[in-house]
Amino acid sequence: DAIGTCPTVSKFAGGGTRNENWWPCSLRLDVLRQFTKEVDPLGDDFDYKAAFNKLDYAAVKKDLVALLTDSQDWWPADFGNYGPFFMRMTWHSAGTYRAMDGRGGGGMGQQRFAPLNSWPDNVNLDKARRLLEPIKRKYGSNLSWADLILMAGNVGMESMGFPTIGFAGGRPDTWQSDESVYWGGETKWLTNDVRYGGSKDVLNRTLEEPLAAVVLGLIYVNPEGPDGKPDPMDSAKDIRETFSRMGMNDEETVALIAGGHSFGKTHGAAPGGDLGPVPEAASLEQVGLGWKSTFGTGSGEDAVGSGIEVVWTKDPVKWNPSAFLGSLWNNEWTLVKSPGGAWQFEASNATLSHPSPQSDKKRKPTMLVSDISLRTDPEYIKITKRWLENPKEFEDAFAKAWFKLLHRDMGPKSRYLGPEVPKESFIWQDPLPAPEAEKMNDDQVASLKAKILEAKIDVGKLVATAWSAADTYRNSDKRGGANGARIALEPQKSWPINAQLNDVVKSLSTVRDNYNKAGIGPQVSLADTIVLGGVAAVEKAAHDAGFKDVKVPFTPGRVDAKQDDTDIENVNHLEYPADGFLQYGKGNKASKTEAMLVDKAAQLTLTPPSLPSLLVVCARWTGILTSKAGQLTNDYFVNLLDMANTWTPSQDGELYTAKDAKSGSEKFTASRSDMIFASHPELRAIAEVYSGADGQERLVKNFVKVFDKVMNLDRFDVR
Ligand code: HEM
Repeated sequence: DAIGTCPTVSKFAGGGTRNENWWPCSLRLDVLRQFTKEVDPLGDDFDYKAAFNKLDYAAVKKDLVALLTDSQDWWPADFGNYGPFFMRMTWHSAGTYRAMDGRGGGGMGQQRFAPLNSWPDNVNLDKARRLLEPIKRKYGSNLSWADLILMAGNVGMESMGFPTIGFAGGRPDTWQSDESVYWGGETKWLTNDVRYGGSKDVLNRTLEEPLAAVVLGLIYVNPEGPDGKPDPMDSAKDIRETFSRMGMNDEETVALIAGGHSFGKTHGAAPGGDLGPVPEAASLEQVGLGWKSTFGTGSGEDAVGSGIEVVWTKDPVKWNPSAFLGSLWNNEWTLVKSPGGAWQFEASNATLSHPSPQSDKKRKPTMLVSDISLRTDPEYIKITKRWLENPKEFEDAFAKAWFKLLHRDMGPKSRYLGPEVPKESFIWQDPLPAPEAEKMNDDQVASLKAKILEAKIDVGKLVATAWSAADTYRNSDKRGGANGARIALEPQKSWPINAQLNDVVKSLSTVRDNYNKAGIGPQVSLADTIVLGGVAAVEKAAHDAGFKDVKVPFTPGRVDAKQDDTDIENVNHLEYPADGFLQYGKGNKASKTEAMLVDKAAQLTLTPPSLPSLLVVCARWTGILTSKAGQLTNDYFVNLLDMANTWTPSQDGELYTAKDAKSGSEKFTASRSDMIFASHPELRAIAEVYSGADGQERLVKNFVKVFDKVMNLDRFDVR
């Protein structure tokens, strides 16, 4: 459970001491080489949307319902139904999501891979996924693991009587661990306080951003209370902070916890020390499974998971909106230790009324320390008391919060697939109006383009505006992007990065109004006009550099979002602290500016070769490392790599000045985001390609390709 060594070091397949061991501070580019088609066994032409649409959805659901009660000897179903077990798997898959960087979540099926497959909090979920394998095999690539893991819990809940508001498929699988996610800096699982800067002051400490769990290895909070101290009041502080990192408010938080714990049980028949190696460390004969408990039969009544032994309700496999809240409020709770040695609460006043998973023996009602917070925190008290009186209101709130939990990293509704997509839209989906039925034809596009150029807006600023509108996109949760023109709405228009672009947006808005009034074609959106402004500017910059035939593709059909459909707090999460492409912001103690550039590039799904060509975006605008502002030339790279320059850093190490080695005169300034292309060996190798004799043409070609890609990252409506 700590970063360790292997008994033997393989001399094959990448063994031995690696670069990242020698130089742990070097900028890693591997996050830009993930999820390529080469690692995808389904191949280049596989289209998950088409495959999913072929699925007999009703048949999958029917098979899932049958599987839920088909108890297997190798891992018997508690109370005869795997529903609660699958729900926990679903919640843990989706529940790693954090709103700040959109990473985590169930959208990529990452629970199958390390580190998540071996996180202590995911104990025994390896068995839940394995139980689903017959269904996965039957439906093959038409049903991804990512979708199946989430669907299983949803169907489980429905089969236990819960009215969900629906489900959407549409999550293509990934085939490797996502190395771009920062899960924390701890070197040992469950080391308290590291992400609080060492503070033990539970009520006044702040969780490191962008993390959403109190400690490495848990999904959210410690069920036994902060740092294992069984104090429900303090636990409420942790619950509120971690759930809000996931974008959940108090009501949603209470609904999820009370709703989730209306089902199933926890597993602590014996101390957790009896568990064997985690899946990632288990030996071959365990065929990918871990946590092989040596206590009793190792499963069923003897199962060990969290070490806590709680049964929340009288019928743990049947939905009853009053069961959990009734038990919470109608009992007196005493702190006790589970047979596994963990803190939990027991209803000392109550009779033996709750069932055992595999026998007729009755037990007292029990709760987690974190559950008891729902009757000690003043805000949670108000909510749980209200819902105790109004079970239907609780049921509705849980249904909505559960749907949000499962779908909030899926991005726009145009990605939702299947027959159970709710008609209703939610503000966390960043809703967009339906597109115009008629799209601009080529002549109309050309006409609008000409009008944009006639407005004499600075070419660099046109590119920067289109870029800034589009590069809010983050692939982690498919949010942001140019569609919707939210760059013209709060909060985006007030972000410092957009301060100098508001005038450009206004000018483009006027061009677009005049164009629409003239009735030349279908009404065009501001979003399309902003992107077309960038397209026109890139073409002009290429023409002015001598590439007269360059055409930048343009796909019309974007729409404009409404201010009322824009959740200010949620959209603010898309603001990036530093954006090297636009020479904006800088790094901090934790992350250098160039690391943020690479992270941003990962969110834009850019690969290393495409990266330097895009730096020209800022060079064209700010005149950095070029004397040919407004032209798409490769002199940025020629100047950056020129050994006639001697570079000196500013005091804070963010800006660099180049002096001519002979004359001593100042020639250029550059940022860390530029300098990394001169200093990092792999990036310099690419920059050399663009600075070479044949680099100019390649630069223009690649720039156009990547510019078009970024402008369309969010166009799920046309993909
Ligand atoms: C089980 C903790 C929130 C659904 C468990 C277990 C723990 C736990 C320790 C037992 C694991 C084991 O030993 O097998 C917590 C904490 C939460 C939380 C600390 C937040 C404060 C949720 C949420 C949901 C949920 C939001 C779903 C909406 C479940 C279910 C089980 C469970 C259904 C039973 C699994 C089974 O019967 O095998 N939870 N949980 N939990 N949790 Fe939670």
